[in-house]
Amino acid sequence: MRLPRGVFSCCVLAITIAAQGCGADHEAGGHGDHDEAPVPAGPPVDASELTPAEDKNPDPNVVEIDLEAREAMKTFGTSPPTPVWTYNGVTPAPLVDTKVGDRLVVHFKNSLPEPTTIHWHGIRLPAAMDGTLAMQSPIPPGGTFTYEFTLKDAGLFWFHPHMRSDIQVQKGLYGALRVRGANEPAADVERLLVLDDIKLDKDGRVAEYLDDHSLMMGREGNTLLVNGIANARVSVEPGALLRLRIVNVANGRFFNLRIPDRKLRVIGTDGGLIPKPYDVDTLLMSPGERYDVMFVANAEPGSEIPLITEPYERGHESGLRPPAEVGRFKVGTGPVLTAKPLPTAFPDIPRLPDGPVDFPIRLNEKLIDGQVMFTINDAVHPNIPVITTKNGDVRVLEVTNESDMDHPFHLHGFFFQVLATNGVALPPEALVNKDTITIPAKQSLKLVARFDEPGSWMYHCHILEHGEHGMMGELRVE
Ligand code: C2O
Ligand code: CU
Repeated sequence: MRLPRGVFSCCVLAITIAAQGCGADHEAGGHGDHDEAPVPAGPPVDASELTPAEDKNPDPNVVEIDLEAREAMKTFGTSPPTPVWTYNGVTPAPLVDTKVGDRLVVHFKNSLPEPTTIHWHGIRLPAAMDGTLAMQSPIPPGGTFTYEFTLKDAGLFWFHPHMRSDIQVQKGLYGALRVRGANEPAADVERLLVLDDIKLDKDGRVAEYLDDHSLMMGREGNTLLVNGIANARVSVEPGALLRLRIVNVANGRFFNLRIPDRKLRVIGTDGGLIPKPYDVDTLLMSPGERYDVMFVANAEPGSEIPLITEPYERGHESGLRPPAEVGRFKVGTGPVLTAKPLPTAFPDIPRLPDGPVDFPIRLNEKLIDGQVMFTINDAVHPNIPVITTKNGDVRVLEVTNESDMDHPFHLHGFFFQVLATNGVALPPEALVNKDTITIPAKQSLKLVARFDEPGSWMYHCHILEHGEHGMMGELRVE
C-alpha cells in the first residue's frame, strides 16, 4: 500500500497521497523511513530562556559576536542522544539581542563537514550579507566569513543556512535575532518561542533520507520543540501580561496555535508591531513566519496553561491528524500581578500603493524524470528566469498557487504588503509588513514591495524541501 521509494508516479497531482494514508500521523510501524511514532516525552524541562549570545564589543551600538557552526550531541526527551548541528554548540543558536540602529558583526566559522552560509531571514540588509548563493560563495569546512550590517527594523527575525537548508536546518542550524524598537509595549513577562519539530528514529538520529511523503509535505517531526526542548515548560507570573514572540523554524510543519479558552491578541508579525492589533482563537504560522502576541496569564498560581497546535488542512489530508501539545506555560506561585491592559494600537505603517501586476508568480508541482519537483512559472530553480527591477521601484507581485497544497512564500530583503486575496482587496485596517506568507492551495495573493536595495534576492517556498527542489527564484534589483 506504500508508494515505492523514489518514485512519485501518482502523487504529483495530489490525489493519491492521502489515499495512501501518508497524510495521517498515527500509522503504526514497519516502515523505517516514515516512522511517525512520537518519542516518549520524558519529564518536563524548562524552556523559558534561550542561551544569550555574548557581545564582545563594549560599544553600546555595536553587537559583535562569534558564531561557529559545529556538530554536537543533544538529548530530546527520552530519546538516545542525537547528533545535531549547532551554532556555538547549542540549538537553537544563542539569541542575538539588538536594538534598531545597532551594527551587528558576526564572525562566522564553519566547522561542519560541509559548506554552509548564514541567511538573515527578514532583515533588510545589503545583498552581499544575505547569505544566498546568488551573492556569496559557500563557506567551506574550516572557512570563515564576517557578516556585518545595520539593523533597520524592530521585530523578531531569525537566521539559518541557505544551502542544503532542508538538511542543515532540520539538523538544528537556526537561531533567533531580536531587534528592539522605540515603541515596545509594556509587558510583565516577555518570552521568545522558537517552534520546531524534529523527526527522530529509535536510535535518536535525524534521517537525511527524504521519503516521498516528506518531499511532498516537507519533513515533519515526531517530536515538537519549544526553544529546542521537548515537553517544554515556559514560566510566567500569575496574572502577568505576557508577550510571546514566536517564530516557526520547522521545515514543513504549520503550527496552528491555540490556548484553550483564551484569545491571543496579535500585536505584531514579520515586519514588527502592527497599527491595529486584533484577537484570534487560533494562530496559524507557516514555516518562516513570526507573530508577536499577548495574553493575560490569569490562572491559578502553580497551574499550567497548555499551548496546543490544532489540525490544519494544508493539502493531502494533513488536517486529519489530532491536536498536539506544543508545550505548557508554568504559572509561578508568587503574588498575583495586577495585569496591565492589552495594547490597542501602534504607530502607522507607511502604505505602499496598489497597481497593476508587474510580476506574476505561479506555484505548482510536476514530475521531472520521475521525480516530483516544485515549480515557479513551470520552471525549477535555477532555471527560472530572473526577475529584474530598478532600484527604488515599487512593484506588484501576484503569487498564484495552482497546486493542491499550501506554500509559504518568502521574499528576501524586503517587506511586502498584501493588497488582495483572490482579487478581493484587503480591508485598510489589516495593513502589516510581511516577508513570509501562506499562499493557500488554489488561491492567489497580490503583494506589493519597494525594492530599494540593489543586488540579487531570492524568493521561494519556505517549506525547505520545496525550496530545495525547485521552488526558488531570483529577483535582481539593478
Ligand atoms: Cu528563511 Cu530564503 O529563507
Ligand atoms: Cu511549498
